[in-house]
Amino acid sequence: MFAVTATRIDADDPLGGLGLGERPEPSAPDGWEIVTVRAASLNHHDIWTLRGVGISADRLPIVLGCDAAGIDGAGREVVVHAVVGDPTVAGGDETLDPARSLLSERYDGTFADRVMVPRRNLLPKPAALSFEEAACLPTAYLTAYRMLFDRSGLEPGSTVLVQGAGGGVATALILLGRAGGYRVWATSRSEAKRDQALELGADRVFAAGDRLPERVDAVMETVGQATWAHSLRALRPGGRIVVCGATSGTAPPAELNRVYFLQLSVVGSTMGSRDQLDRLLRFCEQTGARPRIDRTLPLAQAAEGFAAMIAGDLFGKVVFTV
Ligand SMILES: NC(=O)c1ccc[n+]([C@@H]2O[C@H](COP(=O)([O-])OP(=O)(O)OC[C@H]3O[C@@H](n4cnc5c(N)ncnc54)[C@H](OP(=O)(O)O)[C@@H]3O)[C@@H](O)[C@H]2O)c1
Repeated sequence: MFAVTATRIDADDPLGGLGLGERPEPSAPDGWEIVTVRAASLNHHDIWTLRGVGISADRLPIVLGCDAAGIDGAGREVVVHAVVGDPTVAGGDETLDPARSLLSERYDGTFADRVMVPRRNLLPKPAALSFEEAACLPTAYLTAYRMLFDRSGLEPGSTVLVQGAGGGVATALILLGRAGGYRVWATSRSEAKRDQALELGADRVFAAGDRLPERVDAVMETVGQATWAHSLRALRPGGRIVVCGATSGTAPPAELNRVYFLQLSVVGSTMGSRDQLDRLLRFCEQTGARPRIDRTLPLAQAAEGFAAMIAGDLFGKVVFTV
């Protein structure tokens, strides 16, 4: 079958390790199923893999891709949950299983004609969502859903600031936050992306680092080092930063004086559970919210999507069709 793989790790030249070509067909053990992939979406995770973050060279070659929607062995339209883990060892939440992995970390990922997944990871695709839309949900949108509606501790009507508006998770945060009744403010380095964020439903937009007209209840962080100082200053006393990523670097000054004087909370968030993905699918059906797709490409042209993400030249998700 055709697949897009990580063939070698190169921290400085991630595209150099991208392989497009034939891979052996998967053969599902008991409890697993083969899904024929119809659409898969790109995440920054795939770039990190090519750079060697979160994976070691002995796992290569490995098929990239966390997210997919497709057809299962019985002909049903399904969405694939990307977290492979055991919910019973961690209070019902597989993301807390110390042995959990995402597709493309230990098991081959979704950028292929077919992917093998545990049966419990298959959810029915709502008819209202296209394969392309559904393929955006399992990583970026599920992560945003948990950040906004679980880890933030907020109620509708609260104000949240989304840093770095153009990214896959950031656009999901704007879209879902708005649909969930938050007042959503967003920052971006680019004026064009700020305009697009307004179109997407942000109430107000600001240049990166701008002083805000008032302090916010929570900040949604995916950028990390480049925006951390601003995030700390944007919060009201008692406010909360929910952080799921650090694209620009992981070690900004902690500014502990701000954290304790203002009684701020810093809360980590990773992916979401299968049950939360199920609720996210329903949330999209109920509210009419649909993922923002920057571009759709045939899987054979995946390199073009990877290059755009590395250049930061995106607003929303890149979807590959198979
Ligand atoms: N923990 C989890 O479960 C989880 C799940 C999904 C993603 N993540 C992580 O979250 C991060 C975002 O993922 P993604 O897929 O949304 O990536 P992406 O689509 O590539 O988004 C990157 C965004 O970060 C901003 N950015 C990048 N470098 C910046 C810099 N130097 N200064 C300011 N802003 C910068 C950009 O915002 P502007 O261009 O608009 O300024 C861009 O929109 C990644 O690090 C990823 O690994 C974690």
